[in-house]
Amino acid sequence: MDTVLEFIGNISWWMWLLIFLAIVVIRDVFVQKAHTISHNFPIVGHLRYMLESIGPEMRQYFVANNREELPFNRIERGWIYASAKHENNYEGFGTDRDIYAHQHIFVNNAMMPFKVDKNHPNAIDKSFLPCAKVIGAYNKRKKPYRPASVINVSAMSFGSLSAKAVESLNKGVKIAGAYHNTGEGGLSPYHSNGGDVIFHFGTGYFGVRDKDGNFSMEKLVELVNNNPFVRAIEIKLSQGAKPGKGGVLPGKKITQEIANIRHVEVGKDVLSPPNHSAFSNVQEMVDFIENIAQQTGLPVGIKAAIGKLEQWEELAQIMKTTKKGPDFITVDGGEGGTGAAPPSFADHVSLPWVYGFSDLYKLFQKHDLTERIVFIGSGKLGFPAKAAMAFAMGADCINVAREAMMSIGCIQAQICHTNRCPSGVATQNKWLQSGINVPLKSERLAQYFKTFRKEFIEITHAAGYEHPCQFKMSDIDVNVDDHNLSKELDRTYYYNKTIVPFKGMQDLKNCKHLGGKNT
Ligand SMILES: Cc1cc2nc3c(=O)[nH]c(=O)nc-3n(C[C@H](O)[C@H](O)[C@H](O)COP(=O)(O)O)c2cc1C
Repeated sequence: MDTVLEFIGNISWWMWLLIFLAIVVIRDVFVQKAHTISHNFPIVGHLRYMLESIGPEMRQYFVANNREELPFNRIERGWIYASAKHENNYEGFGTDRDIYAHQHIFVNNAMMPFKVDKNHPNAIDKSFLPCAKVIGAYNKRKKPYRPASVINVSAMSFGSLSAKAVESLNKGVKIAGAYHNTGEGGLSPYHSNGGDVIFHFGTGYFGVRDKDGNFSMEKLVELVNNNPFVRAIEIKLSQGAKPGKGGVLPGKKITQEIANIRHVEVGKDVLSPPNHSAFSNVQEMVDFIENIAQQTGLPVGIKAAIGKLEQWEELAQIMKTTKKGPDFITVDGGEGGTGAAPPSFADHVSLPWVYGFSDLYKLFQKHDLTERIVFIGSGKLGFPAKAAMAFAMGADCINVAREAMMSIGCIQAQICHTNRCPSGVATQNKWLQSGINVPLKSERLAQYFKTFRKEFIEITHAAGYEHPCQFKMSDIDVNVDDHNLSKELDRTYYYNKTIVPFKGMQDLKNCKHLGGKNT
């Protein structure tokens, strides 16, 4: 024994290295069968896999220029991070953007900006910016709701986001006076920290389903009655990243906690089919909406990504003749995010926001319905100039998902679907989320929203208006073709926005339906 140990002890380090490399060669060539490259090029083949795996980080940190990454480039991410941390988010020496590039947006400034007198609500609070419309007002819902912030947290469930991330978002919207959309995973304790909530459900009816997976009105009414901070209900028809795509929640991801929140069984696969079982055509959908609104007293809306317009036309006709229908419509762009989607869907199915929204708005305008509906936009709109464009086109509020995630620490690692999110935002791994400091992150979300609203108000004033609802299509130009021609939005998308009734910021401040006051 001593001789063997002595022999091993006498082997020099480079001999160990050679032995290790010889084992790797044997494994690569004779044992593993999965990788041709490492079989044909033992040892060096591993370098290729290693470099490929760290390629995205290398490009993000060292190679990509400030404006070339997608979905969000470094300048956009930097603006959100700096705004969330209340740091200096200015840039020096002028823009580094190619302002002649296709789709670049220009806000037409007035000769003299809007003047804020000393008693104006924005002289007191520079980020006071509620929605100009009241959700549910036209349909006379029992509990109409005016969002106290035009920027809000978009649908993202507990399950796709970590408990600490959801809690940070909810506490953050409370500070900022905004609302928090639950996403499809049901109403969790993490959504219940005082912020206004929009309860959202899709075809899985999580949190409001019976034991067979069908929608349960009884459970929805109970949920609304027990949680007065729920201010509206959103029915998801589709989302931009994967319209018409069902999904399976694998049993191994269903912990006791998730099972309790979603009303599903622990450890058993759950299907979210592409279609709703509660309705099967447009008329039935309108009846479903009306039924929910009646039973809960809350405004009810729908969320969808836009493609074909025939069924929307049918909806508009039904709304026109029956004077019933959704109180709000959330239009999600094809560029929208998700926890996980096949690239064939994320890249190709449904229209980008500007095309989808303009098609839909025009359709409702043709039927004289735009004043009845609160239009909410989502799809990379969490930047003041983008929001100005969206408002000029007819949006009344915007929802942000990934921008909100970034404000609480997401680094755009783009691995939400792997449960290995390094920032702890989109993972259920306890260790990864343990680094999230909830009080700090909630302040950051709130600060991002406040900075966003302040800059949005300043842009609005520069254009000569008091509230962004006053933006018209002709106030925004966009570069439209290869010849770098810029055209106003009305000449680009061929419609003019319906004027939104607006009596002044003070009037919004005095509104009894104004949200953001939950304690
Ligand atoms: C992690 C994650 C989870 C999401 N979950 C949902 C969901 O449950 N239901 C839904 O309708 N949209 C969901 N979305 C889409 C967002 O609500 C939003 O519509 C889309 O990302 C566009 O907004 P953004 O560009 O600001 O991210 C999710 C997005 C992300 C990034």
